[in-house]
Formats: sequence, structure tokens, C-alpha cells
Amino acid sequence: FKPAESLLDRVSLYQGDITKLEVFAIVNAANSSLLGGGGVDGAIHNAAGPQLLEECRTLNGCMTGDAKVTKGYDLPSKHVIHTAGPVYSSKTPDEDAALLTSCYKRSLEEAVKIPSEDENSGRQVAFPSISTGIYGYPIEDATHIALEVVRRFLEEDDKENKLDRVIFVVWSNKDRDVYKSLLPLYFPP
Ligand code: APR
Repeated sequence: FKPAESLLDRVSLYQGDITKLEVFAIVNAANSSLLGGGGVDGAIHNAAGPQLLEECRTLNGCMTGDAKVTKGYDLPSKHVIHTAGPVYSSKTPDEDAALLTSCYKRSLEEAVKIPSEDENSGRQVAFPSISTGIYGYPIEDATHIALEVVRRFLEEDDKENKLDRVIFVVWSNKDRDVYKSLLPLYFPP
């Protein structure tokens, strides 16, 4: 089937540092402790400052596939949605796919639940490519999942329009090329 044309206006691809984005919420590819790490998690904690870790300590961790929200502190983004992706194993691809699907779904669900002081500034959510760094999820498979979940969510959100835009943030040229080639399959021009 063909998604509504307007969906195309509600997604974008950005190559660069997610911590620089002045948006409603950025998603953190965290781990279940929520106490920080390397990769994008480390970059987000560095840029947000120590108050982010303080708030994370109060959350009692996060199950793999779930998502929890904090403020953005020193980040230009207002909120951070922390999700714990699966550590990829070629022995359990179906289980890992279900968990990664859940990360995107739960992050989007949390994004529309956050109370907003300023509805006029809109609700943009930026996702890094969850689990595809240190956690080893193959980028093509992970991108199919990301695009599929976001398309479905935006379709269902169409009437209420709670979410203005989803931004897929990539770091490497390879990941950018994967997104560029798969985006039109889910959001045809
Ligand atoms: N902005 C955007 N994307 C980034 C940034 C950044 N500043 N830094 C890294 N990335 C990209 C990586 O290149 C990768 O494509 O984010 C993607 C996710 O990679 P990881 O950060 O390694 O996340 P993940 O694979 O989910 O592993 C999570 O890593 O840091 C730990 O605490 C984290 O244990 C958890 C694990």
C-alpha cells in the first residue's frame, strides 16, 4: 500500500551529532542500567552534564526493549528518551528484532506522553541507529525495523498529529547510505 503523502513531510535524515539537535526529544541508545556508557550514550551524558546521570539513577534501570524519559539538562533538546536495545546475536535474530521493534515503539509512545509546556514549538523526535554500534545489530536489518515502526506509528498518529517529525540521525557515511536507500521504500516520494 501507499502511505499518505503527508508522511514524507514528517521524517528526515540527518548526518551528524545527535547531541547538537535543538528538538523536543532525542533518543539515547542506552543500556539497561541507564548509568551511561560509550558511543552515543557517552556523548549524550557528556553534553547533558552530571544532572542527567543523577536523574537516571532514580529510574531503576530500563528493561531491554523499554524506554524511559528524562529532561535534557544542558542539551539543546528538551528531553531524552533512553531506550535499551538488544545486544545482537545471530543465534537469536527473531528475538532481537522483536526487542529492537519494541525500542522504537516504546520510545515513540513515551515521546507523545511527555507533557509539553510549549505546544507551539512542535514535537520532533530524533533517533540514533539503536543497537547498531557497540551492540552489533546489522545496519540494514535495523534500518528496516526503524523505518517500519516509525511509518506505522505516524500512520496511526495521522489523525491526532501528536508527533510533528521523526529525525533519523546517522553518524557514518555507510549508515547514511543505508538509510538513503531504504527510506523511499517506507516513505515513497
Ligand atoms: N550522534 C549520533 N549518532 C552517534 C553518536 C552521536 N554523537 N555517537 C555514536 N553514534 C552512532 C554510532 O555510530 C552508531 O551508529 O550511534 C549508533 C549506535 O551506536 P552505540 O552508541 O554504540 O549504541 P548501541 O549499539 O545501541 O550500544 C549500546 O553502548 O555506549 C553503550 O551504554 C551504551 O551499553 C550501551 C551500548
